[in-house]
Amino acid sequence: MTETDFIPKPYSKHIESGDFTWSSPSNIALVKYWGGKKQDQIPENPSISFTLDYCKTTTKLSFSEKENKENFSFDVFLDNEKKDDFKPKIETFFKRVERYLPFLKNYHFKIETSNSFPHSSGIASSASGMSALALCLMSIEKVLVNDDLKINFIQKASFLARLGSGSACRSLEGDLVVWGEHEDVVGSSDLFGVKYPFEVHENFKNYQDTILLVDKGEKQVSSTVGHNLMHGHPFAQQRFEQANKNLKDIKNILKSGDLDAFIGLVESEALTLHAMMMTSMPYFILMKPNTLQIINKIWAFRESTGSKVCFTLDAGANVHVLYPENEAESVLKFIKSELVTFCQKGEYIIDKIGFGAKLL
Ligand code: PMV
Repeated sequence: MTETDFIPKPYSKHIESGDFTWSSPSNIALVKYWGGKKQDQIPENPSISFTLDYCKTTTKLSFSEKENKENFSFDVFLDNEKKDDFKPKIETFFKRVERYLPFLKNYHFKIETSNSFPHSSGIASSASGMSALALCLMSIEKVLVNDDLKINFIQKASFLARLGSGSACRSLEGDLVVWGEHEDVVGSSDLFGVKYPFEVHENFKNYQDTILLVDKGEKQVSSTVGHNLMHGHPFAQQRFEQANKNLKDIKNILKSGDLDAFIGLVESEALTLHAMMMTSMPYFILMKPNTLQIINKIWAFRESTGSKVCFTLDAGANVHVLYPENEAESVLKFIKSELVTFCQKGEYIIDKIGFGAKLL
């Protein structure tokens, strides 16, 4: 598949107005995407993520035909409140995808969105938000082509979501999604996410993710800036090679159910992501003292109990605590008694693996 495969044939149907609502989840990467090509969110290395279940964005997209077809026209609302500060990001997204959705300037759009997690939780809503919006747009296109899409609906939605926010392309399906070309993953592509196509051991079914909200403030460094810091980064090439190797290794781990190997790979990936930020120029430390407290507590708990709990991190201070379903009760007890004290206002979100977006 190439980019031009996503340009539709002339539309055969006309529609004046309507609306579609989709909910789409967030995802948490096990092998991280950090660093892209100069344009269009083409990743430098393949990544793989668990799709989440509870953390999601619900977006209603209403559209009505307009006279003037020269510009994009839309309003955005978050929890019923007009959000003009969201507009530049969406305008950029529309510009990037217009080639693939040539109806965009024909309509005025009302985008009404809400998140299941608090807006200021430090949890990025770009993956869930951009994938939900991409799906709503695809629902319109499906009508315009009279149901005769020449291309897979989810694949194109993932392709479009990627142009909004790279990791968003991994949010449409579950429970594991790979994005980025890798020789061992049949059908993998830099252009869109694909459902992980191989056998997964029972140990990884219904895996749990409790997100500890350590710092709910604005991100210190946007991911766009972060990815760009990998250009000319002294360790970039080694990092991209490592991610390729980790993707190869995780395939065996997911098949065999080797939880110790899973822990080693996932924690190393999280720390490597932060190491890349610490060694770029300019450099950043996105972990907070409480992030380290939590990591040390998890290591001590594992050591003393033999638990298979582990952590991963996004580009921020919050900690994703990952554990198998059969440890749900004991790990949650540990989180409540020993880790919640390191969370801002004691807040955390109990989540688990999910199965992707839904048309409502
Ligand atoms: O999708 P972006 O551009 O916000 O990048 C996300 C990058 C990480 O969350 C740090 C890693 C990942 O693969 O999700």
